[in-house]
Amino acid sequence: MTQIPVLPSPTWFVGCGNMGGAIIDGWRSAGLSLSNLVVIRPSGKAVDGVRVVTSFADAGPAPKLVVLAFKPQKLDEIAPQLKTWLTSKTVLISLLAGAEADSLKARFPKAGAIVRALPNLPVAVRRGVIALFSRDADDDVRQQVANIVAPLGFAPWMTDEAKCAAVGAVAGAGPAYVARFVDALIKAGEQRGLSTEIASTIALETVFGTAWMAAASNEGMDSIARRVASPNGTTEAGLAVLDKDQVLDQLVALAIDAAARRGTEMANEAKLAALAEPERLS
Ligand SMILES: NC(=O)c1ccc[n+]([C@@H]2O[C@H](COP(=O)([O-])OP(=O)(O)OC[C@H]3O[C@@H](n4cnc5c(N)ncnc54)[C@H](OP(=O)(O)O)[C@@H]3O)[C@@H](O)[C@H]2O)c1
Repeated sequence: MTQIPVLPSPTWFVGCGNMGGAIIDGWRSAGLSLSNLVVIRPSGKAVDGVRVVTSFADAGPAPKLVVLAFKPQKLDEIAPQLKTWLTSKTVLISLLAGAEADSLKARFPKAGAIVRALPNLPVAVRRGVIALFSRDADDDVRQQVANIVAPLGFAPWMTDEAKCAAVGAVAGAGPAYVARFVDALIKAGEQRGLSTEIASTIALETVFGTAWMAAASNEGMDSIARRVASPNGTTEAGLAVLDKDQVLDQLVALAIDAAARRGTEMANEAKLAALAEPERLS
């Protein structure tokens, strides 16, 4: 039986919105104890089973582990206050899309190790993808981080930040794209007279069943598509529309390019801010 990991005491979550909440939901459903966890968030909004405070001063002893779970745009507002609480024993995990390890190191020079973790929302149901990257974590820290994210889903270590960004672009943003595709299936069902309830259930079950079948068999997507489509049949007529000039491939590639470009912009903004205010970051 896999051992349930223990969060270092204390562990701070700085911010706890969609993603922070999803990670805590995943840990809770895996049976992790949340008693070592403190959430720091300005609203003070409750998190089931977790101590919530509105300032670092109220959080208690300096943290062993800090998870940055606020928006990247807040980094320069929060870093100057947070950095004073970090020591060489603190492991810092950043969920911030686009903020690269060097930019984080410039803002949190005292942290013992900095790990970037790019998750996606299905961590809430323990079927997430979490890309991990670090420049300075030793084997012990890597093992500690791997242990605590293991209950949340598939968590590969990436060898460079470009690959980390690629996972973020595909898997981090992916649930939004899959949601849009399911929505398009639902609308198509409704247009053919199905109730919203039935259309929603069958669209979701179709996506879920296809993913489950593919994962269970390792069968390629093209092979699955061909097995559904008999020559000159109904599915083949539909696939001809999606496949014409690789229209679907191109549309998805365009969406992912746009997300990746925005990620690069955000990384550059974070680098420029670090260069612009070096005295604050020392
Ligand atoms: N959502 C995703 O699918 C996804 C995927 C990959 C990576 N990420 C990354 O995850 C991070 C969080 O995203 P999100 O979607 O969870 O954002 P979100 O839902 O907007 O949550 C942001 C959180 O930041 C908190 N916050 C704002 N100002 C703060 C301050 N001064 N001090 C401490 N906390 C503060 C907010 O607190 P209150 O709740 O009290 O207002 C809120 O809990 C981002 O960096 C994002 O790049 C998200």
